[in-house]
Amino acid sequence: MRSFINNLGLLFLFFSFSHCADVSCPESITINTPTGSFPTDGPAFFPANYRCTIEFKIPTGKYVEIGTRNNLKYGGLTNDTLIIQDAASTQYRYYVLDKVFYAPADVAKLFITTYSITSNFYITWKYLDVTGFKKNQYPTGTILSMNLTANNYYQFTSPKSQVAFHTGSIGGDNDLSIYRIYVYDGDDLNAKFLGNLYQFTLTDMVSSGKSLTLVNYFNTTLHSYGIANDYSAISNYDGYGFVVLSSYIDYFMHGKSVAGKETVVTVFCTDCRFAYLNYISFLNSSVAGQEVRVRPMTPTDGYYANLLTYNVQRPTNTSLPQQIATNLFTLSLYQAEAYVGIITRSQGWSNGAPGRTGTIISPSLWSPKTVLTDSYFTNITTSSTSRFVFNIKSVVIGNIGPKLRVEVGSSGSTPMGVEFTNSAKNTGDKVAMGTYMSTSFTGSTSASSFIMDFSIEESIETSTKASASLITFSVVTLVLVNLL
Ligand SMILES: *[C@@H]1O[C@H](CO)[C@@H](O)[C@H](O)[C@H]1NC(C)=O
Ligand SMILES: *[C@@H]1O[C@H](CO)[C@@H](O)[C@H](O)[C@H]1NC(C)=O
Ligand SMILES: *[C@@H]1O[C@H](CO)[C@@H](O)[C@H](O)[C@H]1NC(C)=O
Ligand SMILES: *[C@@H]1O[C@H](CO)[C@@H](O)[C@H](O)[C@H]1NC(C)=O
Ligand SMILES: *[C@@H]1O[C@H](CO)[C@@H](O)[C@H](O)[C@H]1NC(C)=O
Ligand SMILES: *[C@@H]1O[C@H](CO)[C@@H](O)[C@H](O)[C@H]1NC(C)=O
Repeated sequence: MRSFINNLGLLFLFFSFSHCADVSCPESITINTPTGSFPTDGPAFFPANYRCTIEFKIPTGKYVEIGTRNNLKYGGLTNDTLIIQDAASTQYRYYVLDKVFYAPADVAKLFITTYSITSNFYITWKYLDVTGFKKNQYPTGTILSMNLTANNYYQFTSPKSQVAFHTGSIGGDNDLSIYRIYVYDGDDLNAKFLGNLYQFTLTDMVSSGKSLTLVNYFNTTLHSYGIANDYSAISNYDGYGFVVLSSYIDYFMHGKSVAGKETVVTVFCTDCRFAYLNYISFLNSSVAGQEVRVRPMTPTDGYYANLLTYNVQRPTNTSLPQQIATNLFTLSLYQAEAYVGIITRSQGWSNGAPGRTGTIISPSLWSPKTVLTDSYFTNITTSSTSRFVFNIKSVVIGNIGPKLRVEVGSSGSTPMGVEFTNSAKNTGDKVAMGTYMSTSFTGSTSASSFIMDFSIEESIETSTKASASLITFSVVTLVLVNLL
C-alpha cells in the first residue's frame, strides 16, 4: 500500500513538472500583458540544455515587478542559472532566496539556462506605475540617509552643474545593498535609468543635466548615507570620496594625490558633534610640498579656505589629536601620499602635556550655515603645572552678546583669564601657569568666531614664580577678568 502511494506521487511529479508544463519561452512581454506568469500553470522543472530569453519592454514611467521562484543554490551543483538584466545592462544572478526584482524602463531581460533536469522555475510579472510616488527635493550639498522610504523618489538638483553622487557606510565597508537603489538621469522617474547606485558610484557616473533622481522600489532598509555634490565642485580633484563615521567607529585612510592636485574626502559623523584628527603620516617624508588640509562642510558649499593645514616639513605628532568642532568637514591630501586617522573620542584632545600644540577653532567657522544651539566649551588639562601659551589669531564678535573667554588655572588657586566682547586680531602670545586651560565661546552664528593657537610647555618653577599667574596684554580691546 505504502509503496503504491509513493509510486503514485512520483508519477504525479513526473507528469506535472516535466510533461504537462508548457516551458516554451515567451520571449517578448509588453504592457499589453500587464500581469502574467511563466510557466502559466505554476512552478515546473525545466528540461536540460534549455535556453530562454524573455524581454520585457517597459514604457517610460513604468517599472515591472518580476517575481521569481527557483531552487538554485548559491554554490550549488548545477550550472543552471537564472539571470535578470536591467536597462543599463547590469546582470543579477538569482538564487533560491531571491524573490523579486524591480525592472526600470525601458527594457529588462531574463535568461534561463539549464544543463540539468533538476532546476525548477516560476516567473511572474506585474507592470507598475510611478505616478503616485511622492517627490522629495534636495539641493546639492545634501547628505541623506539612504534608507529611502517606499513610494518616494529623491531628486537632487544643482544650481550650476551636473550632479555627482557618492555613498558611504559606517565603518567604510562597501555596502552592497546600495544596488537596490536606482538612479535616474533627470528630475523624476520618467527620466532615463542610469543604473543601480552601486554601479553608478563604482564607475563615477554623473548626471547629464542638473538633476539626478534616486528611488528604492525594493523597500529594503539601508545603512548607508549619500552625498550629492555639484560635479563642478569636485571634478578637478584627483579623487573624491565620502566617509561616514559614528561615535563608536574610527576611520583610517591611506590616500594619494598627484603633483598640484588634491585627493579629497568629505567626512560625516552620524551621531557626534566633534571629530579629532589623531594621526597623520606622510609616506615619503622627504618629498617637499605635501599637505593634509581640512576645511568646512562639503565641496559644494564652497568654503575653499583651509582651517587646518599640515605640511610634510613640520612634525605633526605634537599637534595631534586636533579637534574639528563639527560633524561634517572635507579633508584633502595635496600632492601627497599619507595615512590619516580620525576618531570621535575627545580624551586625547583634552589630556594635554608639555610639548603639545594645537588650534582651537570655533564651531561657527566649521558650520557657517548653521545656527548653533550649544555654546562651545573645551578644557585642556595637564597632570602637573605647565606653561600654557596661547595666541588668539582672530576673534570676531559680529553682534552684541557673544563672548570668548580663555581661562588658565589649577585647583586651589585663583584662575586667570581673558575675555573678549569685541573683535580683535593677532593678540600676541599670552602665557599663564596652570593645570588646565579652558575656552568658552557663546557665538552661535558665522557672524562671530575665533581661532587661537596654543602650546603647552614645561613649567619653569625656579625664579619666575611671580610671573606664574601673570598674563600680558598688548591689545586694548581685551578685558582682563579675575574670575572667582
Ligand atoms: C559547470 O561548469 C564548469 C566550468 O565550465 C565545469 O567544470 C563543471 O563540470 C560544470 N558542472 C556541471 C554539473 O555541469
Ligand atoms: C529605515 O526607515 C524605516 C522607516 O522608513 C525605519 O523604521 C527604520 O528604523 C530605518 N532604519 C534605519 C537603519 O535607519
Ligand atoms: C516597507 O517596509 C516596511 C517595514 O519594513 C513596512 O512597514 C511598509 O509597509 C513597507 N511599505 C510598502 C509600501 O511596502
Ligand atoms: C614626534 O616624532 C618625532 C620624529 O618622528 C619623534 O622624535 C618625537 O619623539 C615624536 N614626539 C612625540 C611627542 O611623539
Ligand atoms: C612614496 O614612496 C614609495 C616607495 O618609495 C613610492 O612607491 C611612492 O610612489 C611614493 N609616493 C609619492 C607620493 O611620492
Ligand atoms: C577644567 O578641568 C579641570 C580639571 O578637571 C578642572 O579643575 C577645572 O575646573 C575645569 N575648568 C573649568 C572652567 O571647568
